[in-house]
Amino acid sequence: MLTIALPKGRIAEETLDIFEKTFDQKFIFDDRKLILEVGEFRFLLVRNQDVPAYVLHQAADLGVVGLDVLEEQELDLMKLLDLGIGKCKLCVGMKNEDELDLTKPEIIVASKMENIAKRHFSKKAMAVKVIKLYGSIELAPIVGLSDAIVDIVETGTTMKQNGLKVVETIMESSAHLIANKNSFIAKKEEILSLYQKINQNI
Ligand code: PRP
Repeated sequence: MLTIALPKGRIAEETLDIFEKTFDQKFIFDDRKLILEVGEFRFLLVRNQDVPAYVLHQAADLGVVGLDVLEEQELDLMKLLDLGIGKCKLCVGMKNEDELDLTKPEIIVASKMENIAKRHFSKKAMAVKVIKLYGSIELAPIVGLSDAIVDIVETGTTMKQNGLKVVETIMESSAHLIANKNSFIAKKEEILSLYQKINQNI
């Protein structure tokens, strides 16, 4: 039995579509249930940012999570496969009329991705204060909470509709299949067999 943590929402649905295509059977969660067992697989439905924790602590053998979340959390996990779903970019955004003022002693940045934001600006030797937020990041520069944001851009609609522009792209992201290192050793055949089958269906 392999336990796989999925991030609630579209990525979980698209991952289950890949499993349906791969194994030619239905993988559907009942109503509000958070666990689904089908054959040799048990799926857990968790918050996106919590997927790495479930896999790290071996509550799940495998997980599906965005590269951006992995970069943010920098945990000791194995990246097995890029599933090519959940594609987005992590960008620095500002108000349309603003520019990054490099002469400012400190730039205030709002982000869900605190560590990526800090690393990005420290590489450029820019002093930043990062304000950690949990959502609606685009609001921060509009109301003066921050000078800039570091946030996920998928279609670009949220930034556009809120009068923001992308000033830099930090990284491209997509959902990856990840594994717990001990599970990978203990269940190597099962995991490699799944890896090969999925790899043929993405
Ligand atoms: C994410 C992200 C942006 C938006 C980008 O937010 O933080 O706000 O999606 O998508 P777009 O480029 O297609 O407009 P999410 O929907 O996860 O909501 P949140 O603000 O609650 O984090």
